[in-house]
Amino acid sequence: MANGAGSIVVLTGAGISKESGLSTFRDPDGIWARVRVEDVATPEAFARDPERVHEFYNMRRRRHREGGIQPNAAHLALARLETEWRGAFLLVTQNIDNLHERAGSRNLVHMHGEMLKARCARCDSVREWHEDLGLATACPACGRAGDMRPHVVWFGEMPLEMDRIGAALAACDLFVSIGTSGNVYPAAGFVREARGAGARTAELNLEPSLGASLFHQASYGPATRVVPEFVASLLAAGAVPAG
Ligand code: APR
Repeated sequence: MANGAGSIVVLTGAGISKESGLSTFRDPDGIWARVRVEDVATPEAFARDPERVHEFYNMRRRRHREGGIQPNAAHLALARLETEWRGAFLLVTQNIDNLHERAGSRNLVHMHGEMLKARCARCDSVREWHEDLGLATACPACGRAGDMRPHVVWFGEMPLEMDRIGAALAACDLFVSIGTSGNVYPAAGFVREARGAGARTAELNLEPSLGASLFHQASYGPATRVVPEFVASLLAAGAVPAG
């Protein structure tokens, strides 16, 4: 434990953004209840019908632009924890929204990419992108059209910065999982990696996730209540709880 505080890794999923007005994936009103993964979130779908995939992300980008989407108290509490915690801190999110950044989080990894960035599949340049994307969109770097895609990790593709995440999990004293159902790997396996490293593990979620039995402690309820409460108690203790 560096300077006695201990190092923390936090993992977030769609549940932390639900109270900001963004849909989750597997809740009854979730995204996968309305559209099929195979049609919009795989490389095969993009090869088969790129405009369908572009429209899926264009619609979600528009929701961000026009929907008054703001970070909520849970995003803000994690930014506070990062600022005030005396030990190492890394926030790993599965989310492709930008609410953690807008809440002030800095030590942040988007392991599934970022919906508000676009990548050119031809020259690999990545840049902020808040507007619609389509086959006619020309890459600002190489000038070619037809190769721009959302900078998002699709099913079957490798999540980003896995080495950095693995190193942080191997060294952490506390692993906190927030707003994720534990359905999708490798994120759903992080709790096992953290336990293997001797870390204490906590789950903050609306309801028990698939991996609930792997956590030493849990607090169930809406993220805007349980996350600020957890952060306040952790900062008051000033160190990772023993055991
Ligand atoms: N507060 C806290 N948790 C909530 C809230 C809330 N207000 N509302 C919902 N949840 C919880 C749900 O109970 C569920 O356990 O958030 C979790 C959301 O789970 P999913 O919809 O499966 O989302 P997530 O776990 O982030 O999905 C992981 O799957 O489809 C892929 O790439 C996509 O990153 C995503 C990955």
